[in-house]
Amino acid sequence: MGMRLQVDGIKGVVVEILEWDPRLDTSVPFMDTEHRQMYEIYSELARAVTARASQSVLYQLLFKLTTHAEQHFRNEAQQMVISGYPGHDAHVARHQVLLKEVADLTFQYGDNAIDLSARVLDYLRCWLSDHITTADREFATWIKASEV
Ligand SMILES: [Fe+2]
Ligand SMILES: [Fe+2]
Repeated sequence: MGMRLQVDGIKGVVVEILEWDPRLDTSVPFMDTEHRQMYEIYSELARAVTARASQSVLYQLLFKLTTHAEQHFRNEAQQMVISGYPGHDAHVARHQVLLKEVADLTFQYGDNAIDLSARVLDYLRCWLSDHITTADREFATWIKASEV
């Protein structure tokens, strides 16, 4: 669905411009809005990586991406508490797995912005669509049921 881009000198890493796919819609407005924003920031970083943007631009975009993810995770968790979602703990644990992975990658590759960005993008590419179509969709079904 996206466009694959080659990053010189980094083997085994896929950097891709991710286009929004309607199959990712959950029909919960705040989730869809924030997921779309996540895809936009993701693609912004992917373009910057392939254009070999400066370290400061890359670190800024990485920061924007992780900050957005953390805020989005907090918003979802808050709605889970409000709606009494029984899957809260398991869902939050899945968010933690992503944040832990980004922290580990930062520890490993933090001194090289291109390398770090490419690896974060590669990991997030599968994590995002997988998470949205499974865990987030399950929660969305719960919210919608509790609204009626
Ligand atoms: Fe989400
Ligand atoms: Fe989530």
